[in-house]
Amino acid sequence: MTTAVTGQYGPWGIVAGGSDGVGAAFAHEMAARNLNVVLVARRVTVLEAFAEEIRAEYGVEVRTVALDLSTPDALARLADATSDLEIGLFVYNAGGDDYSTPFLDKDLDTHLKLIHRNCDSVVEAAYRFGAPMVARQRGGVILVTSGAAWAGGATLATYGATKAFDLLLAEALWAEWRTSGVDVLALVLGKTDTPSMRRVFDAKGEPYGDAADPADVAKQALDHLADGPTWIFGSQNPTGGSPFGATSRRDAVLAMSRHSHTSRASTGS
Ligand SMILES: NC(=O)c1ccc[n+]([C@@H]2O[C@H](COP(=O)([O-])OP(=O)(O)OC[C@H]3O[C@@H](n4cnc5c(N)ncnc54)[C@H](OP(=O)(O)O)[C@@H]3O)[C@@H](O)[C@H]2O)c1
Repeated sequence: MTTAVTGQYGPWGIVAGGSDGVGAAFAHEMAARNLNVVLVARRVTVLEAFAEEIRAEYGVEVRTVALDLSTPDALARLADATSDLEIGLFVYNAGGDDYSTPFLDKDLDTHLKLIHRNCDSVVEAAYRFGAPMVARQRGGVILVTSGAAWAGGATLATYGATKAFDLLLAEALWAEWRTSGVDVLALVLGKTDTPSMRRVFDAKGEPYGDAADPADVAKQALDHLADGPTWIFGSQNPTGGSPFGATSRRDAVLAMSRHSHTSRASTGS
């Protein structure tokens, strides 16, 4: 059974990174619950084709905004492009790292762009779109993070650090806004079958193995949006703490590093 969301989170929702993978699954699930959706991504052709698919399947309104979330003016442009809409739900999804390599094997600009997309733009999204929600005492924000946030790991340095940032940001906003009628959820994902995940495995020449279905992720996240601060998809205890528990930080980092060397971590991406 799907939970109705339009009253609490409508009439419009934004999916930042909403043209494939987990973001596309969110768009499907939101439209199925009768929300109109704004879809944000860089590749215009993919974005427009996907928007048409959602319109045709659900009959909701869909607006596309093509921009790069790793650029400094991205959120100002998104705010301008949606200033006439009441945004009741913001899903910040874009955040994967297609190229997991040792820290120094990546150029500095790539690290900084990842930080901008996964941290600066997330703060700006929460600030610009959270404020009107708090003012109207109604709304929802989902920040998609990763098991890579639980501990540092070799080849995951910048990515994992940004995901820890998103985890703590969402949890803190949940604590601040929980009495304001605005639900905030840090959605922690493990390996999930998306084009981005497949690119990582293809680059390493590794089989995909078991991976979550993005449709299940989106459905569960929307069903549990009011059960924040944190929802760990696939965990037996989804509102529980880090799977590393009381493990020493050293052992957790070594475990995370072993994992990321052999495959994309099932506790992270
Ligand atoms: N898949 C996994 O195994 C996994 C595991 C743990 C956590 N996660 C988390 O889940 C979230 C979704 O992951 P995903 O695998 O679906 O892939 P993703 O690459 O994070 O998201 C893909 C979507 O985001 C858009 N996008 C990517 N970079 C963008 C940018 N700079 N500006 C605007 N749009 C951008 C893509 O369209 P364009 O390319 O056209 O821009 C596409 O619509 C991420 O936050 C990731 O950290 C994923």
